Parts: sequence; structure tokens; C-alpha cells
Amino acid sequence: MKRRTIVTMPGDGIGRIVLPEAVRVMEAAGFSAEYVHADIGWEFWCREGNPLPVRTLNLLQEHGIGLFGAITSKPKSEAAKELNPDLQDKGFVYYSPIVGLRQHFDLDICIRPCKSFQGNPLNFIRKNRNGNVEEPIVDVVVFRQNTEGLYCGIEWTDPPENVYNALKTHPKMKNFLSVPKCELAISTRIFTKHYTERIVRAAFAYAKNFGYRSVTVCEKPNVIRETSGMMLNLAKEISREYPGIELWNTNIDAQMMWLTKNPEDYGVIVAGNMFGDIVSDGFAGLVGGLGFACSANIGEKVAIFEPTHGSAPKYEKLEPSIVNPIAMILSACMMLDHIGEKEKATRIRNAIARVVAEGKVRAYDMLKLKGGPEVLSQGAASTPQMTDAIIANL
Ligand code: NAI
Ligand code: MG
Repeated sequence: MKRRTIVTMPGDGIGRIVLPEAVRVMEAAGFSAEYVHADIGWEFWCREGNPLPVRTLNLLQEHGIGLFGAITSKPKSEAAKELNPDLQDKGFVYYSPIVGLRQHFDLDICIRPCKSFQGNPLNFIRKNRNGNVEEPIVDVVVFRQNTEGLYCGIEWTDPPENVYNALKTHPKMKNFLSVPKCELAISTRIFTKHYTERIVRAAFAYAKNFGYRSVTVCEKPNVIRETSGMMLNLAKEISREYPGIELWNTNIDAQMMWLTKNPEDYGVIVAGNMFGDIVSDGFAGLVGGLGFACSANIGEKVAIFEPTHGSAPKYEKLEPSIVNPIAMILSACMMLDHIGEKEKATRIRNAIARVVAEGKVRAYDMLKLKGGPEVLSQGAASTPQMTDAIIANL
């Protein structure tokens, strides 16, 4: 059989530290692949005026599967100052290469699993009615629409005349007619049937495939009737094809409260771009936060797997490194699931579960320490020690 090729994009900062650790774990689990390195991030912005070089897009186009670490982003003006002097004032504008990847390859389906590992000191706990502490097992998978909604970028301050005139045709606009046009800031929230249906279908298919009992649409259809309403109505139709799976409907605001009360009640959650972003961060916080939060960005032809965390530049230079590689390793597990290597993914997740449950090897975040070189003498494991412990438990 032809060996699979994986495009690795370590990127910046701790992305360069955690990505090779994930590869090390996959190799130890017996997953054999060819890894092709692809350039992305700050270095390429400074040197070439493009943080996402065309050669990287070509590699992803060719191989279809990417493993991504993290990148450093800076505001436009700061970015312009760090550009190679030969390239300055030549019209180069910085944009985030991960956002660029999502747009270029139309990676519309974002999956963010938030599952607690028993024994993780960062897990959500609560008191029951007898005053005893209980630690519910949270096992939620958020499906977030990744390309539309409030993040689609169609927005104006002081909108052009034709936009303003079009808006004035809406009866509710009368409440804003007394406001000078130049004082109006408008961000649009566009949902399309095609992409809304894709994300809802992906959520149901996943629930079926991985044995979840419910799919919750987490929007606000009673207030945001058109867009949230479209998602809920499509979900009602699609749910008929999945008789074993219950369809629930929650409002984003109430959901943020309920996840701190009964998070174990939820299974698969589906939402638009912004609410999906919010609710997935909320659940991630209950199961360990950035050291544990993994994600996938999936399109029709290309899929990219990445931890939710960024490049954490303040930890980049620490030797040995102290950051938690688990978020990156769990992202690699999502990749293995996606390419039909579920058994190896499960073995790796089980190994992580054993390390966490045993509690002997813990990264600094799991010990609730403030990050710095001194955490190693305070009992925290280094990044490679954490990886070694996972490998030893495979
Ligand atoms: P960050 O996620 O890089 O770090 C925030 C804090 O979270 C860190 O200081 C650290 O305390 C903790 N943390 C992050 N990853 C950890 C890990 N694996 N183990 C233990 N602790 C961890 O976010 P920040 O500081 O806001 O941004 C730093 C840079 O990363 C910025 O340039 C930002 O634009 C970029 N960024 C990139 C993302 C991406 O590549 N997808 C996502 C978020 C931020
Ligand atoms: Mg977020």
C-alpha cells in the first residue's frame, strides 16, 4: 500500500515544539507516513511578505491532509515594521495564515472535541446537594461553521450610500434613522443553506458514527430568526434521517450558564461561527483549557488539524520546553480518526488517559503553576517528558 503523506506546518513559537512531539507519538503507535514540511508563519511574512507561501498551498492541495502547530499574528502596523526592508512600502499586508488556509481551501467544518480525562486536576467540579464534590465526565464535540456568519468580514463603519439605502428598506431600520450614517457600525451575519446544511449534517453523521445520543443546535432562533432559524429548521429536517439521535435546541446565552451546571448532559453541539467559537471555548475550559483543546478544520478536499492554542511566544525559548503537548497530540488523533486510523487514535487517547489518571507526570498547566523555567523544580514535567510518558503507556 502507498504510504500516506502528511503535510506538517509547525509554524511559530511552541507550534515548532509540540508538532514534532505529536509525530513522535504517532510513530510510536505504529502509524507510518511520509511527513512533508511546509513553510508557514511569521518568518515567511518577514522574509517574503507572505506568511502562507503558495508552495505550502500547493503541498496541501496535493496531499489533502495537514497537521498545523500554531502561528504568531500581530496587528497590521506592527507586522509592517518587521517586514524585510527590501519589501517595505511595496503593498504587502499581513493577514493570519490560518484564517487564510480556512478560506483558501473552504474548510467550512470545524470540530472541537471537549472531553475530560479522569483525574485531570483542571477538570470542572461541583458540589452536590450533600455538599460533596463531584466531577462529571464531560464529553462534548462542538461543530462550528467555520467560514460564514459574523466572521465573514462583510462589515462597514459609515456604510456606503447604496448599502445604507438598501438597509433603509427594512422596517426595523426606522429605529436607527435618527443616527448620523457616519456613526453607524454594521457587521453582517450571513448563513447560506448549503453550508448550514453541511455543518448540521456533519454533526449528525458524527453523532451516529461515534455513538452520541443527542445533537444540540446552540444558537438563538427566538431572536436571530433568519440565520439561527435556518439552522434550526434544517436540523429538524435532517434529524428525521437519524431516528436514534435526539435533536435539542438551546440558546447560546443559556447554554453558557448550563454548561457550568450540567455539562455532562450534552453530546454533539452544532452552531454558527461566532456562537460555535464561544461555546467551544466554554466547554474547553471545563476539561483542561488550552493544554487539552484540539480541533479539526475540514473541507471537501483538504483537512487541517491543529491545537486551539497559539504560539505562546514567551515559552518558545525555554530549554527544555514546559508546554503541554497533549492538545497537539489530540489534534493528531483527530487526524488519525479522519484518515481511517481510529484504532491507533484510540490507543493514543487511552495512553493519555492513563498518564493523566496516574497523575505522576503532569505539565505545569495541570499543576496550576505559573509558567516559567522554575516549574520543573516544582514537580512539572517538561514537554518531552510528557510525550515520553504517553509513549510508555501506548
Ligand atoms: P496562546 O494560546 O499562544 O497562549 C496563551 C497562554 O495559554 C500561554 O501564555 C500559556 O499560558 C497558555 N498555553 C497555550 N498553549 C499551551 C500549552 N500547550 N500548554 C500549556 N499552556 C499553554 O495565546 P496568546 O498568548 O493570546 O497568543 C500568542 C500568539 O499566538 C499571538 O501572536 C496570537 O495571534 C497567536 N495565536 C495563534 C493561534 C493559532 O495559531 N491558531 C490561535 C491563538 C493565538
Ligand atoms: Mg476562540
